[in-house]
Amino acid sequence: MKVGCWLPAGFARGARSTDGYSCCAPAALFGVREREKALSRLSPTLPASGRGKGALMTSAVEFQAVSRRFGELQALDDISFTIAPGEFFGLLGPNGAGKTTLISVLGGLVRPNSGRAFVMGHDVTTDYLNSRRQLGVVPQEVVFDPFLTVRETLRFQAGYFGLYRVDDWIDEILHHLGLSDKADKNMRTLSGGMKRRVLIGQALVHKPPVIVLDEPTAGVDVELRHALWTFISRLNKEGHTILLTTHYLREAETLCDRIAMLKSGRVVALDHKHRLLSPFEMIVARLTAARVPDAWQTRVRRMEGQSFLIELNHFEELETLLAALRADNIPIEDLQVEQTDLEQVFLRLTGSDQESPAANSGGSSS
Ligand SMILES: Nc1ncnc2c1ncn2[C@@H]1O[C@H](COP(=O)(O)OP(=O)(O)OP(=O)(O)O)[C@@H](O)[C@H]1O
Ligand SMILES: [Mg+2]
Repeated sequence: MKVGCWLPAGFARGARSTDGYSCCAPAALFGVREREKALSRLSPTLPASGRGKGALMTSAVEFQAVSRRFGELQALDDISFTIAPGEFFGLLGPNGAGKTTLISVLGGLVRPNSGRAFVMGHDVTTDYLNSRRQLGVVPQEVVFDPFLTVRETLRFQAGYFGLYRVDDWIDEILHHLGLSDKADKNMRTLSGGMKRRVLIGQALVHKPPVIVLDEPTAGVDVELRHALWTFISRLNKEGHTILLTTHYLREAETLCDRIAMLKSGRVVALDHKHRLLSPFEMIVARLTAARVPDAWQTRVRRMEGQSFLIELNHFEELETLLAALRADNIPIEDLQVEQTDLEQVFLRLTGSDQESPAANSGGSSS
């Protein structure tokens, strides 16, 4: 089905899978070959975006020194980074860090005081219509027209992009979001989680290559959250660029390739998730036993209750520790091994004023 977009036809309907959505047949929303073709078509029209001559690929998203004030408040302060086509990019930060404001700049809802932003090479200010066409935004707030049905809501959204007679595509979206039986239900009769699904449908209805999700799973039950992530992950595998904000750090750690952390409108860290974790990486063995072998006394960081917290340099050291316990005939009552996760890194970088290696080196670059 063609709806006047350079993306190929959407999902092919298949058998329902265990996650409640149908399995996707090979006809991808945005296949790799099509993406390469589309990018080669786009490259002659690259904007003078400061990436230098001979740039081979248009970034899916690019922020160049974007700043925005609201009165006295500096909501965004000199934000610069790029997101490559096909990336799954996480934008994290505490409440009020500036995530929604940054996303609103991309969608043209907030104008930066200085700096520029691009979607698939289109300036969001000077080439608004083209940039907006490349972008699907799932907003943080659930807003809907209570007098429209689900299908009418999606038809209206398609109409904003000049797309008509898109019912086949709408059916596909409804099917993949598990909303087929709600198509003719009034929006106000849907549960909160169902309304969120419709918001995702609205973001997809014009088949944008870049999808921005601003806390799409806030207030959504565990089952639906997992189903939505399966769906979003598949869109990403099929070539869509995803920019996600979430307060569920486990999700960001699982789904995202690179992560930017915002604090008070500034990027305090930006890197691949593994590199982001590595400056803080620590493996701790939590050992409950009568004592620690003599050779390990210096490795005990502290006591927590009856447990010794012993720092390991790598997982292999666990074997050495176990061997030492056996050799000294020390029975183990309990032993747990813990590794630094994104939540701990996030709290270190955004929870206090404490400076950190990642904060200094992560920088606002891509
Ligand atoms: N239209 C506005 N007028 C005045 N201040 C605003 C406006 N929009 C946002 N702000 C302020 O800008 C700052 C950043 O807000 P933003 O909504 O971008 O944060 P956020 O990172 O998305 O937070 P959350 O995690 O709570 O969604 C906040 O201090 C907010 O109060
Ligand atoms: Mg927000």
